[in-house]
Amino acid sequence: MKTRTLPSGAEMPIIGLGTWTLRGSIGTDAVATALELGYRHIDTALAYDNHRAVATGIRRSGVPREDIFIVSKVPRENLQYEEVLVAAEKSLEELETDYLDLFLIHWPNPDVPMRETFTALAELREKGWLRDIGVSNFTIAHLEEALDVTTVPIANDQVLYHPQRNQEQLRQFCESRDIVVTSYSPLGKGEFTNERTLKRLAEARGRTPAQLILRWLVDKDVVVIPRSTSREHLAENMDLFDWELDDEVRQTLEGMEGS
Ligand SMILES: NC(=O)c1ccc[n+]([C@@H]2O[C@H](COP(=O)([O-])OP(=O)(O)OC[C@H]3O[C@@H](n4cnc5c(N)ncnc54)[C@H](OP(=O)(O)O)[C@@H]3O)[C@@H](O)[C@H]2O)c1
Repeated sequence: MKTRTLPSGAEMPIIGLGTWTLRGSIGTDAVATALELGYRHIDTALAYDNHRAVATGIRRSGVPREDIFIVSKVPRENLQYEEVLVAAEKSLEELETDYLDLFLIHWPNPDVPMRETFTALAELREKGWLRDIGVSNFTIAHLEEALDVTTVPIANDQVLYHPQRNQEQLRQFCESRDIVVTSYSPLGKGEFTNERTLKRLAEARGRTPAQLILRWLVDKDVVVIPRSTSREHLAENMDLFDWELDDEVRQTLEGMEGS
């Protein structure tokens, strides 16, 4: 699996499993199946209310903790110093682990000074509870503010990124500052898997629309975290590397912005 190297030296697999809405046994089954198929990166958040389901899936898979890259997020309502510490402790307890590979600020919150949140995150990183820290839903302006208030490297920005929400400017900004970009909702919550043009292009190549989109993103070194509860889709979404994207597909995907 292709990876991105983070400031701590950790390798972040470029494909992960998204788990938004996957709670209880549905979440556990998706995580266990994904790990069985070879996924080694799970994206969750306190707001998803599924940490325990994720932990059960990991335990059931038998894959050692240290082989899995776990991302969680602190909600925007909990960005005050003390609350970040509580959120991290709760995440570790629920996920049955003594460290997170990456802990993100889920959304910016103008009511809490960024410096306060980053002070807490830096301390948690120093303590070994967090390997790397990052953000989500941050624009370039948010990132500039964040880079000004912390000396701890910001490893990641997780943003909405798909053919109709092309984040090229943000991607270039992040690349220039060694911030890895993760695409969330890469399949437009499933919407693009039935898009007519993509279906035609995919069928002609023995691929699927999901694969074309995911490969387009990983070719830009963007991490993808498609969510699926289907074994077939999970396998398909990982099968991205022994073929190439051609110009016609790439241009079609690049041309979908705002369509
Ligand atoms: N940071 C944030 O604010 C934020 C916001 C939203 C999402 N996220 C993260 O990003 C992850 C992914 O985004 P998402 O859950 O919004 O949506 P998504 O991954 O874009 O799409 C998921 C949908 O696509 C379907 N699907 C997956 N693979 C498919 C395939 N190969 N062929 C056809 N359909 C397929 C799934 O159905 P099946 O189950 O039937 O496969 C599901 O309905 C989330 O789960 C979450 O971890 C983060």
